[in-house]
Amino acid sequence: MPDEMSRPLIRDRGDGGGCRHLEASMSEPGAPVIGILGTGDFSRSLARRLVTCGYQVVVGSRTPKRAVALFPEEAEVTSQMEAASQADLVFVAVFPEHHTTLVNLKPALAGKTLVDVSNGLRVNKDGPSNAEQLADLFPESSIVKGFNTISAWTLQVGPRDGSKQVLLCSDNHAAKSLVMQVCRRMGFIPVDMGLLSSSLEIENIPLYLFPSWRIPTLCTLSLFIFFYLYNFTRDVLQPYVTAGKSVFYKIPIEIVNVTLPSVALVMLALVYLPGLFAALLQLRWGTKYNRFPDWLDRWLIRRKQFGLCSFFCAVLHAIYSLCLPLRKSFRYKLINTALKQVKNHQEMLWDDEEVWRMELYLSVGIMALGLLSLLAVASLPSVANTVNWREFTFIQSTLGYCALYMATFHTALYGWSRAFNPDQYPFFMPPTFLLVIVPPITVLLGRLALFVPCVAQRLRQIRRGWERSRHIRFTVPDNYCHNGLEDVSNV
Ligand SMILES: Cc1cc2nc3c(=O)[nH]c(=O)nc-3n(C[C@H](O)[C@H](O)[C@H](O)COP(=O)(O)OP(=O)(O)OC[C@H]3O[C@@H](n4cnc5c(N)ncnc54)[C@H](O)[C@@H]3O)c2cc1C
Ligand SMILES: NC(=O)c1ccc[n+]([C@@H]2O[C@H](COP(=O)([O-])OP(=O)(O)OC[C@H]3O[C@@H](n4cnc5c(N)ncnc54)[C@H](OP(=O)(O)O)[C@@H]3O)[C@@H](O)[C@H]2O)c1
Ligand code: HEM
Repeated sequence: MPDEMSRPLIRDRGDGGGCRHLEASMSEPGAPVIGILGTGDFSRSLARRLVTCGYQVVVGSRTPKRAVALFPEEAEVTSQMEAASQADLVFVAVFPEHHTTLVNLKPALAGKTLVDVSNGLRVNKDGPSNAEQLADLFPESSIVKGFNTISAWTLQVGPRDGSKQVLLCSDNHAAKSLVMQVCRRMGFIPVDMGLLSSSLEIENIPLYLFPSWRIPTLCTLSLFIFFYLYNFTRDVLQPYVTAGKSVFYKIPIEIVNVTLPSVALVMLALVYLPGLFAALLQLRWGTKYNRFPDWLDRWLIRRKQFGLCSFFCAVLHAIYSLCLPLRKSFRYKLINTALKQVKNHQEMLWDDEEVWRMELYLSVGIMALGLLSLLAVASLPSVANTVNWREFTFIQSTLGYCALYMATFHTALYGWSRAFNPDQYPFFMPPTFLLVIVPPITVLLGRLALFVPCVAQRLRQIRRGWERSRHIRFTVPDNYCHNGLEDVSNV
């Protein structure tokens, strides 16, 4: 780092005709002068944040006069050469395609730390990362990769819960530590990702498009298409083909409102099914230390996304359900029934069983949705961070199973005795509620089986570290103390 005393307190304009001066006394003594090459969105937000945190900032531009108005008054905007010469630490905020245009700054940047903030162009591109290419261009500088995972917007508004971490890597430990200090002072949390060889991984991060959502979303869409086609064939096509009855008006709301809850219920069952597989495998292996198969591992870590997809479908189903009586078709049907009744001098319609069935299934459905909402709120990082592990497990596991039970009960009450009515099987297609109730009932029965005392106790032991093939034998030491833990595998 250049000698602080040799630096003038008030800087000159320099060769680029710096349009604004910077008072060195504004920054804390000992703090590095920070340079930024480039005057784009990222540079402007970074300069603003650094100035707010008390750093002395010098921005290097090809056209400083044009860019000066865009920066805070406290930042000096000057030529690239001037900025590179004055700064101790330089952020390279230009696109990687233009890194080569900076090579004339090589002598001015020698011995200094360069932070490459660039993002990759595509995931896992062949060859070296942008940061490694920058390191090849500037072999006498220390390259640190980082800040590319932070958007210009986040830099401007300041760190928030979800975007506090800044991933950094470098081959030079001192350079990395310096950038970490700056990072902390800006309110971010630096995360050391190791050597510069990790830079490709860091460059990939902003390019991913919801990687953990891909399978759950695909699963939701596939189930939606399957159930939609099934319900369309059963409830719309079948009456048209067999009786010439046109009920195509059901396509936008009724069919959707049978499809959405079906997807919600199956997805909810898929949230709790992998936990059962995990338990079964642990019981079979007699240990928790074996790795689960890859498919189960991936399924287990995507349960949150499966759950939120289920919640999304359930919310839409609730809204659709509340809209059912608002439709013209519903009103016409109601009036027609009333007219028919008057015409035929029928008695008042009142089916006690039907009334009770609906009161009950609606009430239980609302409770299920309430519990799911609780789970969804608890999955927000800001909420999850305020509860301890036991509380989180209580909400996600215990209340989650209650939600599954309620949703299953809601569906069973809705189906009631209709499952036994032969009219409900047109084209040999069973009613949808009968199909979708199978996975949650399987999960609930599986969970019940895990409550059988001998199974539950063995599972508890396994999850606390007990292994079938390893026993702890306590021996009295002969002449010196053992720790008493001996491996007697396969005894
Ligand atoms: C709306 C909604 C929101 C949700 N949000 C979240 C969320 O934010 N976070 C979240 O995690 N889940 C979330 N879920 C999913 C689900 O609620 C939880 O995963 C819940 O903890 C599952 O409970 P469980 O009893 O099946 O399994 P758990 O109690 O989690 O697991 C059972 C046992 O399996 C074993 N096990 C589980 N996972 C692993 C693993 N990866 N490796 C090794 N062993 C393992 C453990 O021994 C554990 O004791 C959400 C679900 C819904 C519906
Ligand atoms: N924007 C973000 O939210 C964000 C987030 C993370 C990372 N990044 C990374 O930050 C870098 C800059 O992004 P940005 O959004 O600020 O881009 P931008 O708005 O296009 O700015 C790039 C700047 O580079 C300078 N530059 C230097 N040499 C250049 C050349 N030969 N041709 C063109 N421009 C040149 C220009 O400033 P002068 O004309 O003044 O020289 C220009 O303003 C990129 O690598 C990007 O991947 C951006
Ligand atoms: C506010 C909450 C809810 C309300 C008001 C509600 C309402 C309804 C209504 C009115 C029906 C009958 C639909 C019809 O006539 O076609 C129904 C059916 C159904 N609901 Fe809900 N429900 C709610 C929550 C849930 C939740 C949380 C789930 C599951 C996660 C769910 C799953 C189902 C299923 C599977 C059916 C049967 C669909 C069929 O086969 O026809 N419901 N619900």
